[in-house]
Amino acid sequence: MCGIVGMLGQNEVAPILLESLRRLEYRGYDSAGIATLRDGKLQRRRAVGKLSELSDLLVRNPIQGLSGIGHTRWATHGPATLENSHPHQSRSVAVVHNGIVENHLELRAQLSALQIEHKTETDTESITLLCQYHLEQGLAHAEAALKTVRSLRGAFALAFLFEGEEDCLIVARQGSPLVIGHGQSETYVTSDSIALTGLTDRITYLQDGDFACLSRRKISIFNCGGEEVSRPLERRNIDSASTDKGGHKHFMSKEIYEQPKILAAAIERYETSGGMAELRPAVEMVSSCRRLELVGCGTAHFACQVAGYWFEWLAGIPVSTTVASEFSCRKQAFDEQTLGIFVSQSGETADTLSALRHMKNAGCGTLSLLNVTSSTMARESDVSLPIHAGVEIGVASTKAFTCQLLALANLVLAVAERRRYADQDRISRLRKEFRRLPALTSAALAADDGIKSIAGELGKFVSVLFIGRGAMYPLALEGALKLKEISYIHAEGLASGELKHGTLALVDDKMPVVVLAPQDQLYAKSLSSSEEVKARRGKIILVSDTTGPTGIWRTVPLPSVDPVFAPILYAIPMQLLAYHTAVHLGTDVDQPRNLAKSVTVE
Ligand code: M6R
Repeated sequence: MCGIVGMLGQNEVAPILLESLRRLEYRGYDSAGIATLRDGKLQRRRAVGKLSELSDLLVRNPIQGLSGIGHTRWATHGPATLENSHPHQSRSVAVVHNGIVENHLELRAQLSALQIEHKTETDTESITLLCQYHLEQGLAHAEAALKTVRSLRGAFALAFLFEGEEDCLIVARQGSPLVIGHGQSETYVTSDSIALTGLTDRITYLQDGDFACLSRRKISIFNCGGEEVSRPLERRNIDSASTDKGGHKHFMSKEIYEQPKILAAAIERYETSGGMAELRPAVEMVSSCRRLELVGCGTAHFACQVAGYWFEWLAGIPVSTTVASEFSCRKQAFDEQTLGIFVSQSGETADTLSALRHMKNAGCGTLSLLNVTSSTMARESDVSLPIHAGVEIGVASTKAFTCQLLALANLVLAVAERRRYADQDRISRLRKEFRRLPALTSAALAADDGIKSIAGELGKFVSVLFIGRGAMYPLALEGALKLKEISYIHAEGLASGELKHGTLALVDDKMPVVVLAPQDQLYAKSLSSSEEVKARRGKIILVSDTTGPTGIWRTVPLPSVDPVFAPILYAIPMQLLAYHTAVHLGTDVDQPRNLAKSVTVE
């Protein structure tokens, strides 16, 4: 999604803004731009495509100034063209925007009635034109911006830069994140504090409805009621090592390889008194509810689905899992004894946030599992648990997925101990196996070379199926999603047993089928599904801790693990397969086309 940066500095801001925009690249974008003030006059450079295009343009045609705003745009209203790129500018105001203005058609009509015409298809242009109109009606800068903001509906984070106002940035937040950074004698604003790495670690998170006037020395924040408020100043240590590739070619590869270490550190944290205290309120909530509703999007939704099996198997709690974007479409059959569990890496995903608010309004308890602990979901949930994955930059979620599963497993085990639903010896054995997961994950990474050679062949096919049974079914969905999103090969994940109900018609010698089949009590049934594939000359890639029958095209050997935790281990080959296929095909692995890391619009 779009990324915003803004700065009132002491030195030339264009190179700093560009560097900060680079740190926001992970959010996904298709054009970028910068506006600065030089001698009070607005200057602007914009380019379609990657930041390298903008940076080349700035070399050919530089801009100067100590105050500026910058933006990476992920197209929503209007294609990725130069005219639609941000900053948008009218005569004396430049604006960058993240989010969607839902009433932009209404605003367009109002402006058109005033003979003010739009030149682009964007919703952002209405903001710029409206603000300019208010300025021309004689309002001061802050009032013009405030009046504009008050007439917007939808989700937005905004920064306004005004001609002639070298020491002023006006910003506003409704639904989309916005962070103020406090320098020595500089002031920053951004969508994500990661953009401030190396600039400042002193930050203030704006809350929904906040409007702020920034200068180099003073920051005034007003809430939605117009009262001046004080928001806490926090220290965020943004380790630059977490924002570089650490010798890997891509962030995704770094993040895949980090998993054993990160899982080990998370488990260590869970076992400290601090970790246990963190978990207690969540265990209380889950143990006392009658039903669980697990909600997330994409990969986070698949983590919910895996956890759904775990809660039912080990804690005996009935579970529904719903993909967040469908949540409001269901006629919900929940009451106040249903607990909503929301899983999200970013904690900002608009669909998940909206489901959370929906359940909260219905009087249900809300528990979130998040990587970004300063996110909106963390603030709005009754209780939130950190997943301890560290900064994840690749758009394709890898370590966040395994950490979500680990955190959910930790919760399930604690609830199982409390409710004493399952045999407690079995739970103790699972606790031991839980501690082995980092070492097992490390052993799973040993399959990398074999997977790389399979990936070289996979790139020749137009479609790939992934099948799994039980808790491996969501892993089949995850394997397919990972492959689609970064290699652009069509892939479909399905429950093994469903193959014969339709999709088997697609299987012939041009169809690779990834069979996720740990040797557990479902193994025999999984083999029957692969026999169905084999009989149609489908190319089976067996991912298993056993060699399987004859006639398998390729095998990915994995260490044995208790079947309950197999989804955590089997995530590794799914990630590696997608990664190597994408590298082989030469796609943009870390920032796949059309996608954004944090999806802040519904
Ligand atoms: O930040 P979230 O976990 O809420 O994001 C949810 C999905 O957008 C995300 O998992 C997405 O599916 C990933 N790109 C998949 O790799």
